[in-house]
Amino acid sequence: MSDLFLTGIGHLTTNVEEPVVDAVVKIEDGSVVYAGPDSDAPDQGNSPRVECEGRAVLPGFVDSHTHLVFAGDRAGEFSMKMAGATYADVAKRGGGILSTVAATRNASEDDLFASAATRVRRMITAGTTTVEIKSGYGLDLETELRLLRVARRIAAELPITVRTTFLGAHALAPEFQNDRAAYVDLLIEEMLPAAAPLADYCDVFVEEGAFTVEEARRIFAAARGHGLGARIHAEQLTHSGGAALAADIGAVSADHLDHVTEGDAMALADAGVIAVLVPGASYMMRSSQAPGPMLIERGATIALATDCNPGTSYFESMGPMISLAVVQMGLTTEQAIYAATRGGALALGMEGHGTVTTGSAGDLMVLDAPSSAHIPYRPGTNLVWKTIKAGRVVAVGSRPG
Ligand code: NIG
Ligand code: FE
Repeated sequence: MSDLFLTGIGHLTTNVEEPVVDAVVKIEDGSVVYAGPDSDAPDQGNSPRVECEGRAVLPGFVDSHTHLVFAGDRAGEFSMKMAGATYADVAKRGGGILSTVAATRNASEDDLFASAATRVRRMITAGTTTVEIKSGYGLDLETELRLLRVARRIAAELPITVRTTFLGAHALAPEFQNDRAAYVDLLIEEMLPAAAPLADYCDVFVEEGAFTVEEARRIFAAARGHGLGARIHAEQLTHSGGAALAADIGAVSADHLDHVTEGDAMALADAGVIAVLVPGASYMMRSSQAPGPMLIERGATIALATDCNPGTSYFESMGPMISLAVVQMGLTTEQAIYAATRGGALALGMEGHGTVTTGSAGDLMVLDAPSSAHIPYRPGTNLVWKTIKAGRVVAVGSRPG
C-alpha cells in the first residue's frame, strides 16, 4: 500500500463522471484521495511523483473471466480448426478441453505456477490489476485443488488482486464419460466441499455436450451451501438455458452469451446479473460476437474479459478485447472501456474498483497516448506506460529509444 502523486494527466477516465482534462490523482496508503482538475489539487506532501506529461490515465483493467492455469499446447488444434475442423471434430479426435486436462494432470504444482505466473506478469504489463482465475482443467479432486492453490499463490506472490472460481463442471471427466450422474454426484459430494475454502465462486459450463440446466442447478445449490457465488458459462455455442438459470438463481455473472436472446437479456437486467462478454473467444472461433449493444439496450450491465484459455481464446491482454468489442460487437469506445474496468469490477462484486475517485483502490494505468480511445484504435500495440497497483508502479512499458 503506497502513496503516489500523478500530475500532468492529459485525459483522466474516472468512470463516475465525464473524463477530466489536465488532471491530478493523489493516492495515499493504496487508495485514491483526490482525482480531478489540477486547479483544485491537494499538495504533493511526501508522496513520490509521476509526471504524466499529457498522457491518459484510467482504472486498471479487471479481467473477470480467465482459465489461465493450464499445461500443454494446442496450437496444432488451432491450425486444424482454421483449416475447417469443428470444435466437435477436434474433441472427437482427442483434442479440446480433455487434451488440456491430460497435460494439466501431469504437470507439477510448481510448473503450473511458473507458466501461469508468466501469463499474469504479461497481463500486468498490459494494464490488468485484477484477474479472476478458474480451475477446470483437472476434473479430479487432486488436480482441481492444485489449480486453485496455484491461483491463490499468484495472489500471494504477484502484484494483482485475484478472485478464484471452482469450475469442476467444465466437462465430464474422462473417467465418467458414460456415467454423467456419477460425476455430478462426485462434484457435489466430494469436490465442492474440498474446493470451497480455495474458491470465491463456482462456475458450470451449461452447454450441449457439457452440463444441463438441471445438473447446473443442483451444483449451484450445493455451492451456495458452501458460501460460493455463482457464475455461468451460458449460451456460448448454442442457446441452452444458462442465462435464464443465471437470472433465476441470482448468479453474479452469465458469461459468453453469444446466443443470448432479448428475453434473456431482460431477465439478466432485472436480476442484476452482470453479462461478461468474451469477444476473443468468438473471434478465435470465427463465430459472431455476442449482442453487446442489445444487452445494454435491455438494461444489462456488461463486462469484457479475455477468457484466457488454450482452446478458444489465448489472449492475455484486455486492449484487444476492447478493440474487438468496438469494431466487431458494436460497442462505443466509452462503453467498451467502462466494461473492461468498472464492468469487470461489478462482475466480481468489487466495490471501489474500476473507478478513479476519492476512496477508489489506487489501481490505475498510465497510457503512452493522449486518450483512452487509443486502446481500441491501436489494438496491436501495448500502450500501457505504467501499471499502478495500490499506489505502486508495478510494470513499466517499453518506449522505443
Ligand atoms: O471458455 N467454454 C468452455 N471453456 C472454455 C474453452 C476451454 C477449452 O477449449 O479449453 C471457454 O471457451
Ligand atoms: Fe470461459
